[in-house]
Amino acid sequence: MNTVGINVELWKQLFTLYKLAELGAHKRVIKVSTAFLAEKMKASQQTASRHLIALERKGWITRRVTPDGCLIKITDTGFEELSKLHSNLLLIMETKYPPSITLEGEVFSGLGEGAYYVTRDGYRKQFIEKLGFDPYPGTLNVKLVTEYDLKSRSELEAYPAIELEGFRNENRTYGPVKCYPAVINNKVKGAVIFALRSHYDSSVVEVIAPKFLRNHLKLKDGNKVKIEVLINP
Ligand code: CDP
Repeated sequence: MNTVGINVELWKQLFTLYKLAELGAHKRVIKVSTAFLAEKMKASQQTASRHLIALERKGWITRRVTPDGCLIKITDTGFEELSKLHSNLLLIMETKYPPSITLEGEVFSGLGEGAYYVTRDGYRKQFIEKLGFDPYPGTLNVKLVTEYDLKSRSELEAYPAIELEGFRNENRTYGPVKCYPAVINNKVKGAVIFALRSHYDSSVVEVIAPKFLRNHLKLKDGNKVKIEVLINP
């Protein structure tokens, strides 16, 4: 299970699986009627029955119907799903940092400098190696406006980032850059980059992505964008 890909229907099925585990179905074959299970789930008998069918189809349980109830056992695959849920929860609860921080701001045009920096070989190679994509030549500038967003942005400073090393070429030196993988408008994967020597103040976030975002997300200056910044411990 990947929590990013999970949907409500799957979540409900996991809940049913969890209820079956509470009844011991991960350890032994249990005999249970749909009416009894429905009561445990605080759901209708129809729902309980529909979920059992779905779980069986997924291979998460084995089910044999007898006149006085179903004989149910959670399979290895089903157990694996519960384990994934378990480790995801542990990760969420035990990690020092929030898994993500969402920033919202407005798109604006700069002076066309982003393209120059992003395409320097010394950075580009590190983007590919450390972020896993070759960025579109440029940065999408996003201006944070609300107090909440400005505060969130400053919190980020304390969270672990992917660090690009500074370098020097024949003309000059280029400073180190901190990056965080990010999802823009819930659709496109990219990253936010914080140059340690930036020409912007901390109310501006620069976003890179393998795609031309203005085109892909139909963005114009002044439009709002949501940037879900992912924090990898
Ligand atoms: O600094 P400025 O916004 O003028 O330009 P740039 O950083 O050189 O980027 C060129 C253009 O591409 C700008 O309009 C950016 O907003 C846009 N862009 C984009 O839409 N998607 C990206 N992944 C990167 C830049």
